[in-house]
Amino acid sequence: MKGVILAGGLGSRLRPLTSVTNKHLLPVYDKPMIYYPIQCLVNAGITDILIVTGGEHAGDFLKLLKNGKELGVRHLAFAYQEGEGGIADALKLAEDFADGGKICVILGDNIIEKNLRQAAGEFFTQTAGAKILLKEVTDPERFGVAEVIDGKINQIIEKPEQPVSNLAVTGIYFYDNDVFEFCNTLQPSDRGELEITDVNNFYLKRGDLTYDVLEGWWTDAGTFESLHHASNLVAQGGANQLD
Ligand code: G1P
Repeated sequence: MKGVILAGGLGSRLRPLTSVTNKHLLPVYDKPMIYYPIQCLVNAGITDILIVTGGEHAGDFLKLLKNGKELGVRHLAFAYQEGEGGIADALKLAEDFADGGKICVILGDNIIEKNLRQAAGEFFTQTAGAKILLKEVTDPERFGVAEVIDGKINQIIEKPEQPVSNLAVTGIYFYDNDVFEFCNTLQPSDRGELEITDVNNFYLKRGDLTYDVLEGWWTDAGTFESLHHASNLVAQGGANQLD
């Protein structure tokens, strides 16, 4: 299985930090943010990785990561996203890279304490469909939120004003190759973006969306609060632990 890291966007919630660099190159404790999703994929045995980014600072990823070997990446590829069409729009650029196979997608500002080995193993044996990872949070209104009834996802709502649960949909997704067909049928949401939640709801409707609840802490790092929180979590105990 190949891996795709989505590292585009304007990082507008982190201005002025992102005025002269890409959000994913900012420090989270002692490493640039992009190191964490790369390490997360490598730890799950996913070493053929595409980074989708854009904007003025895209070239800095190459300067920083070179061929990725120092981080254990076997093959590092890049795709350039024009404009700001949202997560599902960025994902479309991974179609040729995926080459008909399954992919693990991770948002470039998502950091986890543990690892994806179990989820990746489960998805490997899942014949088709998608798998998402959920995590209990105290501020679900900031995320996609899943309602789980009798062990099954009933609905996923993007940034609900009145969350139906405390289960956030993390930015870690496993997809079969139909994901590109779904991305191509999407219409922009009210915020003008192609939403990954709409993609997940396609799979939900089709009946082959599975989920796990992530063990250990999970955080994004796209706001001042969450970036600070992420740095503290990493400083305290480290991310991407293998056991
Ligand atoms: C995105 C997704 C959301 C998900 C979150 C995880 O939100 O749209 O469903 O819960 O990532 O980090 P965004 O960071 O674009 O606000």
